[in-house]
Amino acid sequence: MLVQLLLRSPLRKALVIGSTVPVSVTKNSLRMVTIAMLAARVDPGYLTGRLHRDGGIVSSWSQTDNLQYWRTHNSMITPVVPTTLFSQLKAKIETHEAKIGVIGLGYVGLPLTLLYMDQGFLVTGFDIDQRKVDALTEGKSYIYRIPVEEIQEARAKGLVATSEFCQLAEMDAIIICVPTPLNDYQEPDTSFIVNTAHAIAPHLRAGQLVVLESTTYPGTTEELLVPILENENQNGLRAARRNGASEMAPEFYVAFSPEREDPGNTTVARRDIPKVVGGLDLQAAELAAGLYGAVFNRTVQVSSPAAAEMTKLLENIYRCVNIALVNELKLLCLRMGLDIWEVIDAAATKPFGFQPFYPGPGLGGHCIPIDPFYLSWKAKEWDFRTRFIELAGEINLGMPYHVVASVTTALNQRKKALNGARIMLLGVAYKKDIDDLRESPALTIIELLHKEGAEVTYNDPHIPSIGKGRKYDLQMKSLPLDRLQEYDCVLIVTDHSSYDYRRIVEESQLVVDSRNATRGIRSAKILHC
Ligand SMILES: NC(=O)c1ccc[n+]([C@@H]2O[C@H](COP(=O)([O-])OP(=O)(O)OC[C@H]3O[C@@H](n4cnc5c(N)ncnc54)[C@H](O)[C@@H]3O)[C@@H](O)[C@H]2O)c1
Repeated sequence: MLVQLLLRSPLRKALVIGSTVPVSVTKNSLRMVTIAMLAARVDPGYLTGRLHRDGGIVSSWSQTDNLQYWRTHNSMITPVVPTTLFSQLKAKIETHEAKIGVIGLGYVGLPLTLLYMDQGFLVTGFDIDQRKVDALTEGKSYIYRIPVEEIQEARAKGLVATSEFCQLAEMDAIIICVPTPLNDYQEPDTSFIVNTAHAIAPHLRAGQLVVLESTTYPGTTEELLVPILENENQNGLRAARRNGASEMAPEFYVAFSPEREDPGNTTVARRDIPKVVGGLDLQAAELAAGLYGAVFNRTVQVSSPAAAEMTKLLENIYRCVNIALVNELKLLCLRMGLDIWEVIDAAATKPFGFQPFYPGPGLGGHCIPIDPFYLSWKAKEWDFRTRFIELAGEINLGMPYHVVASVTTALNQRKKALNGARIMLLGVAYKKDIDDLRESPALTIIELLHKEGAEVTYNDPHIPSIGKGRKYDLQMKSLPLDRLQEYDCVLIVTDHSSYDYRRIVEESQLVVDSRNATRGIRSAKILHC
C-alpha cells in the first residue's frame, strides 16, 4: 500500500521537494519504502529526519546512515547517488529542462537567450526597459545583427520577456547581463549589479544557480552580489561556499562567467568561444560549467569567481594596451612619413610572437574603454597603481583630438578654416558593421568639431539617429551620401563595409581617413591620420 502510494506522483513529488511525509513506518516498511523509492528513482535520503523508524523519530539519521542501512539490509540494491539540490539542478541542466532567466536583454543577454532557446531550454528574459520587453513580446528585434525571424522563432518556442521579477522564483538558473559603466569620475558604476541583486533576492529559492556575466573587478561576485542575495532573501538561504554551509543547509549556487562576445566578428561562431567559469564552490562551478557546456563547445573552469573576473579584465586590458601601443606608433610613423598599416601587415607575417592590433580614432564600445578602469580602481584598495592601464588610457583618449587636429591641418592646406567648415562624418558606430554607439570616439569628435565652429553632419547605415546619451546630447539624423561634393571635408571615423570608398573619394573635395579605409586608392584628396 505504502509502496503504491509512494509511486503515485503527488506523494513522490512531495518527497522530492522535501516536505514532511505524514507516515509512521517500521523498519520493514521503511525497507519497502526505500525499495520503491529506488525503483522510482527517488532518493531515500529524503526520508532523512522525516520518518519514524520503529516508532521513534529519526531526526538525526543522516544520508550516510541511510545508505549504510541499505548496504546492510539490501545487499542486492545499489543505492542511487543521493538526490540533492545540486543533483536535481544538474540533471535538469543535462536534460535541458532547466528554466533559465536572463536578466538584461541587451547586446549580451539577448543573443545568449536565443542560444539557449535554440538548444531547447525555456528562457524568460527580464529587463527594466519596457521597450525591449514589448519589442520581444511583439516578435521584433532591436539589435541590428539579430534578424527578426530569430526572435519570432524563439517566441514560437516559448520565449517570454518580462519586467515582472517575481517570475524569477520559477527559474532554475539566473544569468545576469546588466551594464557595468564608469561614473563621471572614471570609477566603476556597479549600481546595475546592485539593483539586480536587490531584485533577485526576494524571489531566491533553494537550489537556484545565479551567474554574473557583467564585466567587473575581481571580487564583485563575492563581495557585492552574494551578500545582497544572502541578506535579503526571505528563507535564510546561504550561498554554497567551499568551506561553507552544512550538508543539509538550504543553499543556492553562485558563479561568475565573463561574456567574451566580439560584436561584428563573423569569423568565430559564438558557441566556439570557450566560456570561462569560476564558481563560489565546486558544485557551483560544476553547475555553471554544465549550464554553459550545454550551449558552448568548451568551458574552462577556474578556481574562483574572482579568477574568472580577472581573466576577462586581462583580456580587455591586453587589447587596450596593445591598441594604445599602435596608436602611439602611428603618431610617430605619421611624423616619419611611414605607413603604420603597411608596417603592421608586414609584422603580422611573423608566424609566432606577434598579434596585429590596429590604430584608429580612439576606443569605443562597452568594454575596452571602460573595463581596465575597473581594475585600476580596485588596485587602489591594494595600494597598487596599474601604470600600463593609465598610460594606455591617456594615449587612447587623446586619439579623437588627434583626428580633429588632422582635419584642421587638411583644411588649412586648402586655405580653409575649421570654423564654419562643413564636415560629413562617415560611420559613428564604435566599430565597423555594428549598430552600437556606446563610448564611440565619433561622439567626442563631433563635440570637438562643434566646439571649433564646424558644421557637422553624419552618415551611418546602422545608426539612423543620435539622441541623448550619458555624456552627450547631439540630436542628429543620418543624412544620405548623395551630395558629397558640397562638404569641405569627408571624415572617415568608422570603416563600415557597405561604403563604396572609391566613389566617396571621387565625389568628395577632401577625405580625412582615420581607419585606412581608403587603402589602395591613390588620390591627393586623401589625408591619412
Ligand atoms: N556588448 C558587448 O559586446 C559585451 C562584450 C563582453 C562583455 N560585455 C559586458 O556585458 C555586460 C552587459 O553588456 P551589454 O552590452 O549587453 O549591455 P546593454 O546595455 O546592451 O544591455 C544591458 C541591459 O540590461 C538592462 N538592465 C539594466 N539594469 C537592469 C536591471 N536592474 N534589471 C534588469 N535589466 C536591467 C538594460 O535595460 C539593458 O537592456 C556589461 O558588463 C558589459 O561590459 C559586453
